Amino acid sequence: MKKQLAKFRQIAAVLHFYLRFLPSFTQLGFVARRFFWSVPKTDFRGQHWLVTGGSGGLGRSVVCAALRGGATVTVAARSAEKLHALIAELAAAGLEGADTERCDFTLIAETEALIARLAAQGRAIDVLVNNVGVLNDELLVTREGLEASFVSNLLSHYQLTEGLIDRGLLQSGSVVVNVTSGGAYHFPLSAAMLNVTDPARYRGVAAYGFHKRAQMALNRYWNEIHHDRGIMFYVMHPGWADTAGVQRSLPRFRRVLKSILRDADSGADTIIWLVAHRPAQPAEELVWFDRKIRPAHVYAHTRHTTEDGRSLASVLQTTLSDRRHS
Ligand SMILES: NC(=O)c1ccc[n+]([C@@H]2O[C@H](COP(=O)([O-])OP(=O)(O)OC[C@H]3O[C@@H](n4cnc5c(N)ncnc54)[C@H](OP(=O)(O)O)[C@@H]3O)[C@@H](O)[C@H]2O)c1
Repeated sequence: MKKQLAKFRQIAAVLHFYLRFLPSFTQLGFVARRFFWSVPKTDFRGQHWLVTGGSGGLGRSVVCAALRGGATVTVAARSAEKLHALIAELAAAGLEGADTERCDFTLIAETEALIARLAAQGRAIDVLVNNVGVLNDELLVTREGLEASFVSNLLSHYQLTEGLIDRGLLQSGSVVVNVTSGGAYHFPLSAAMLNVTDPARYRGVAAYGFHKRAQMALNRYWNEIHHDRGIMFYVMHPGWADTAGVQRSLPRFRRVLKSILRDADSGADTIIWLVAHRPAQPAEELVWFDRKIRPAHVYAHTRHTTEDGRSLASVLQTTLSDRRHS
């Protein structure tokens, strides 16, 4: 009976979530809101952008918009073929100014090597988009002994951002946009749930949600500690967009909502808008969505935690240090 009640509660919570957010997170919400928006001033000339996971989905949209605005862009992603294909597509569309870096963000060593290569190039980064992120249904543990989606969704963002700041590549005037998800709305900040390598305890959707929640806390912390450096940090979620990631990780969800999912450009719109406008934001946990600040929490239970961005950063730092010395 207890089990059935728990199951019923779970189904009710999921239904409530979808009914509440479906009009807003799909293309319906984007189109309705766009009606009231002005065209963003997308003059990015003189800027250099680094976009992680930039060879497909939302990242690819960001790359194209940045190039159209006159920026130069380093596209970092895992598959060399996809990166080559992207460069060919960009050339065919007359978009110049992109270069590529192959990096598997599930591996600390590869992110470290990427930071070293970027440092050797010595080119300042005006805009970093921490976009790479996946929902893995099946548990995948890397050869470095960490849960793969934890590394790509969160640890690599921390490592890359701090690494670029340490090496002076992100400086005053730089902006960092972190791409989170509405999936965070179900989960509180919990360091213990970030790197679950036990098959009996791993749940892909929950792992993803905990990583995405942690991004919001980390973003607030970064704004606090790096404020004096003049670097701005934003965290946004794109709603629900029809990308290869959604097709792969949420096939049933996609089948049902396919006709009203956002296109990748609509999902990426707020990233571009944030970089173009750099709006002021209060010193609290929040998330940007469709060009507006939205609450970081919509359910009371996710506020209950004794952890914060500082304790999270300390866990991430320790994880990196332990792996580097093992
Ligand atoms: N689409 C949505 O509705 C939605 C909703 C909420 C949040 N988001 C967030 O938005 C971001 C982008 O999502 P998306 O749907 O555009 O994803 P996607 O379609 O899966 O595209 C992911 C991109 O990241 C790259 N990538 C994946 N794993 C990588 C790794 N380990 N190392 C390097 N590159 C990697 C992929 O290149 P390879 O194929 O070469 O690996 C591809 O370029 C993610 O953070 C996601 O969580 C998306």
